[in-house]
Amino acid sequence: MRGVSYLLAIPLCIGLSVANAEVLLTEDEIAQTLSHGPWPPDFGVDPSNKVSGNRDAIKLGEAFFADPILSKNREMSCQSCHDPATGFSDALPRAVGKKILDRNTPSLMNLRSHRWFGWAGGSDNIWAQSIAPILHEDEMGHDRDSLKKAISASSYKSAYDDLFGPIAQHESNEVLVNISKALAAYQETLVTGQTSFDRFRNALEAGDTEAASEYSASAQRGLQLFLGRGNCAFCHSGPAFTNGEFHDAGVPYFITETRVDEGRYGGLKALKQSPYTLAGEFSDDPDKSGAWAVNQVRFQHSDFGTFRVPGLRGALHSAPYMHNGSLSDLAAVVDHYDMINMERLHVDGEAILQPLGLSEREKEDLVTFLESLSDDGS
Ligand code: HEC
Ligand code: HEC
Repeated sequence: MRGVSYLLAIPLCIGLSVANAEVLLTEDEIAQTLSHGPWPPDFGVDPSNKVSGNRDAIKLGEAFFADPILSKNREMSCQSCHDPATGFSDALPRAVGKKILDRNTPSLMNLRSHRWFGWAGGSDNIWAQSIAPILHEDEMGHDRDSLKKAISASSYKSAYDDLFGPIAQHESNEVLVNISKALAAYQETLVTGQTSFDRFRNALEAGDTEAASEYSASAQRGLQLFLGRGNCAFCHSGPAFTNGEFHDAGVPYFITETRVDEGRYGGLKALKQSPYTLAGEFSDDPDKSGAWAVNQVRFQHSDFGTFRVPGLRGALHSAPYMHNGSLSDLAAVVDHYDMINMERLHVDGEAILQPLGLSEREKEDLVTFLESLSDDGS
């Protein structure tokens, strides 16, 4: 493998008729590139969710997801905000429920690659994160009893009974949790496909220079910036391009002039109060695996105003960007990092971010690379 990497490190020109036919990466960059795959990994089933991977649950969850029955006034479904046509997001800066909410609607692709959910990580599992919008008064506005009543009187009753047992015998809170677990089973299946970046990465791994050289020179230069001078891979690491943790990327955290988004600090408060964590009684995992994370969280001042590092696969389809949707496209994100305002970085230890001083061509290269993480047509 070392020998092959060395060979790949030498720019190869394969005939003038083939545009950009060369591999520009050094051996070290190739090794780093391999760490961003293979994709998709085998996520397995979620042990905290007894219906994870269950085909009937996935089908039921998919139907629930699109059905306004999950809102009390029957005007809003999950899909109203998480629209499959726009990367399971809504193309708006901030979500609109009964009023404009505080944050951007994130895409729901590749959820299993995360450990924490929501921009501030207020949940440590997908089903808990699915409970929140059903009960939120500015979103779907159900209470537990109204939800149980609606489902009991609907055509979903028999599918629910078959999957979970007779709804009539279930406490309304159990009904809420079960519906959320069916929703989670469906959402787990939303995984982005292989992209031109993956074909490049896999070709490098296989030592297939010819296949690797199909990846444009611009995307390769962008990847080099991403791994090197841009320091992007410090946070956007691994196959899903996120380290799954919380950082300050220099995005203002004021919602209005007087109100701030506490970010991870608020997420930790929500987590500590939630009965629906991996450590709690609603997790179906007898070993309570993953509970250590929620059990060990400590409040730190440096959590204030930090947000979860988003994965970058499929990002092209879920503009606008950042927790407040303040950046309209990928070029704007690159400009943001290029001219990052150091005074906005309020957290110790984010010294990794510095203004980059990129040329126009370098900015285009970085955008081309980011786009290559989304070109699977999904
Ligand atoms: C009014 C718009 C709206 C509706 C309706 C809505 N969501 Fe969301 N969703 C959001 C927003 C905004 C966030 C980010 C929340 C946060 O960070 O606090 C989010 C976050 C999520 C996440 C976390 C994603 C991640 O990357 O961590 C999941 C999962 C989710 N929603 C599932 C659902 C499900 C299931 C439904 C239906 C029961 C639903 N949502 C209904 C706007 C909405
Ligand atoms: C210190 C960690 C860190 C570094 C370094 C970093 N990012 Fe980020 N990135 C984040 C965080 C955190 C967010 C979300 C910030 C927010 O919403 O306030 C983010 C958001 C993004 C988004 C928006 C994704 C979405 O779905 O909204 C893109 C695209 C992105 N980063 C690309 C990059 C690029 C390109 C670089 C290198 C120039 C980079 N990042 C460097 C942490 C980082």
